[in-house]
Amino acid sequence: MTRKGTCKLETKQLLLRRFTMSDAQAMFRNWANDPEVTKYLTWSPHGDIAETRRVLKNWIESYENPDFYCWAIVPKSSEEPIGSISVVHHDDKVNSVHIGYCIGKAWWHHGYTSEALSELIRFFFEEVGVNRIDSRHDIRNPHSGNVMKKAGMRYEGTMRKADRNNQGICDIATYAILADDYLTQKKPHPLIGKTASVSKMVGNTDTAASMKSGSLPVLATPALTALMEQASCKCLSDCLKSGQTSVGTAICIEHTAASPRGAKITATAEITEVTGRKIGFAVTARDNTGEIGHGTHSRFIVETDRFMKKAEGRIAEGRK
Ligand SMILES: CC(C)(COP(=O)(O)OP(=O)(O)OC[C@H]1O[C@@H](n2cnc3c(N)ncnc32)[C@H](O)[C@@H]1OP(=O)(O)O)[C@@H](O)C(=O)NCCC(=O)NCCS
Repeated sequence: MTRKGTCKLETKQLLLRRFTMSDAQAMFRNWANDPEVTKYLTWSPHGDIAETRRVLKNWIESYENPDFYCWAIVPKSSEEPIGSISVVHHDDKVNSVHIGYCIGKAWWHHGYTSEALSELIRFFFEEVGVNRIDSRHDIRNPHSGNVMKKAGMRYEGTMRKADRNNQGICDIATYAILADDYLTQKKPHPLIGKTASVSKMVGNTDTAASMKSGSLPVLATPALTALMEQASCKCLSDCLKSGQTSVGTAICIEHTAASPRGAKITATAEITEVTGRKIGFAVTARDNTGEIGHGTHSRFIVETDRFMKKAEGRIAEGRK
């Protein structure tokens, strides 16, 4: 473990920095005196700013200790702290840190705490070199668990009547992430970057005039779209298990040049995103002279039988 102490960190929306005595007013006003914020915490709301100053003095003196980690959460847009995130406990025997956080009510549900926790997870794995990061919450405070989930921690279990906070003795849910989990999450999915292409000549049945999507004898936009979907299907064809197929769920393309009959069109799909069964593609198409279209496409991997049963059932239900 490299003892780094409370270093300045930055995320898209936030600065995570050391507290200074001049933060007392903002800390008292923004969260420390609010009983709603401290409802599930172990400390009581501060009765006056003198109490906030005492806490801050203690933290600031502790910054000398490279094992002391306590950050002010400061949105780049406001420049004053709106909450804190810190290591409440560390265990050198198992190389782990336990994180706690709180944020003023006016800033709840803006994604700030998840963003701060995600950055701490990066910092402790990549810069400090811990092996485990955990956090826990009173089960009556599920939003805190959502912060942990959103930052990539995994639920490990609930200990009954194992902690005490301002609501009394409580059941406590634990979440954690290990260095190995973090590395796996960081690795790009092996399918990202896979490409496939399909080609065809613009024939009589592919024109806008023939498909009635226009009146001219040039490649129809729906025919181009279909070719791009075909390339995407080909890209997935050797990744599907038996009984599976993929269905198109969204496509957004620009058709930028016209190709007359006889032109050779090649559509190429590249996998750009894999989120569970949802696959995202970048699609492009060229004719003999250059690019004629590009866009994005999403497909969903489904179980063929279940999908067809559901589709047929939906229509049968509608006929009743
Ligand atoms: C719990 C707490 C830290 C959440 O912070 P936050 O900055 O609001 O959390 P985020 O905005 O990052 O939200 C994370 C997830 O929590 C959930 N969530 C948070 N606030 C929510 C709300 N008011 N309603 C519904 N869901 C909410 C959502 O699932 C959200 O994910 P989403 O944005 O993708 O929908 C904050 O409410 C707080 O400081 N509470 C008081 C102190 C405390 O309880 N600390 C934790 C002790 S264990």
